[in-house]
Amino acid sequence: MTADPRQAQAGCLGKVYLVGAGPGDPGLMTLKGKTLLECADVVLYDALVSPEILAMIGNQAEKIPAGKRRGHHSLPQAEITQLLIRKAQTYPVVVRLKGGDPFVFGRGAEEMEDLLQAGIPVEVVPGITAGIAALAYAGIPVTHRHYSSSVTFVTGHEPVGKYRPPINWQAIAEASETLVIYMGVHNLPHILAELAAAGKDPNTPIALVRWGTRPDQTELVGHLSTILAQMEVTQFEAPAIAVIGKVVDLHQRLAPPTGPIKSNRPIS
Ligand SMILES: C[S@@+](CC[C@H](N)C(=O)[O-])C[C@H]1O[C@@H](n2cnc3c(N)ncnc32)[C@H](O)[C@@H]1O
Repeated sequence: MTADPRQAQAGCLGKVYLVGAGPGDPGLMTLKGKTLLECADVVLYDALVSPEILAMIGNQAEKIPAGKRRGHHSLPQAEITQLLIRKAQTYPVVVRLKGGDPFVFGRGAEEMEDLLQAGIPVEVVPGITAGIAALAYAGIPVTHRHYSSSVTFVTGHEPVGKYRPPINWQAIAEASETLVIYMGVHNLPHILAELAAAGKDPNTPIALVRWGTRPDQTELVGHLSTILAQMEVTQFEAPAIAVIGKVVDLHQRLAPPTGPIKSNRPIS
């Protein structure tokens, strides 16, 4: 399928684009991603994509919610791929919109491979991942010259044995000074027990950032030994990113005093 002249003029060629929507703040959407949303014929989007970013989709586009959130119904992965293939055979510009970055715990590479195998051209448009941006909006840098020269991104949600051996938390505990855990809220008791067994100091700082970069961003800051009790008291829920390491202490100095930064706030 070839793009129509209007789409071609905007630089949207006939293919499937795997676009990263970033973590929520519409100001963090890339210009390339925004242009594609404006000229797409079809947009299949994930559950964590914020309403402000969905509002960037042009009126001509068919919008298809594709899931996925824990405990919520979503299209099975095979159906999403089949749908993408069917849409790409019918329309020139198809956008698969994913939260954060499509290649960071987003199954983007799997979808891309299936599409390429079906003979469909695909391009990836990276997005800003929540594991960096949500923390930054909470005043927590993932590295710092004095506190951390290494960072590990890990999933806390593992369908053990399904795809690969279980996560080696012992090795992860020692691997780097900053540990960033995606999808870890429900599994946090298990993760913390594994880290404790690996000898991680119970006084190590930890922060959880929920709905990072959005107006309703919330943070919970404590230590490995206290965080579960704090979560219970505050009824803290997913979706959230967890960060463990000395960089968390910077939250006190770097967090914006008025809460999350809004890139779309009016300039006074
Ligand atoms: C399936 S993963 C997708 C990650 C995404 N591809 C990325 O690069 O950010 C979903 C998990 O990312 C994290 N996440 C995504 N957006 C977030 C946000 N705005 N604030 C906090 N955590 C977020 C949560 O841990 C959530 O459970």
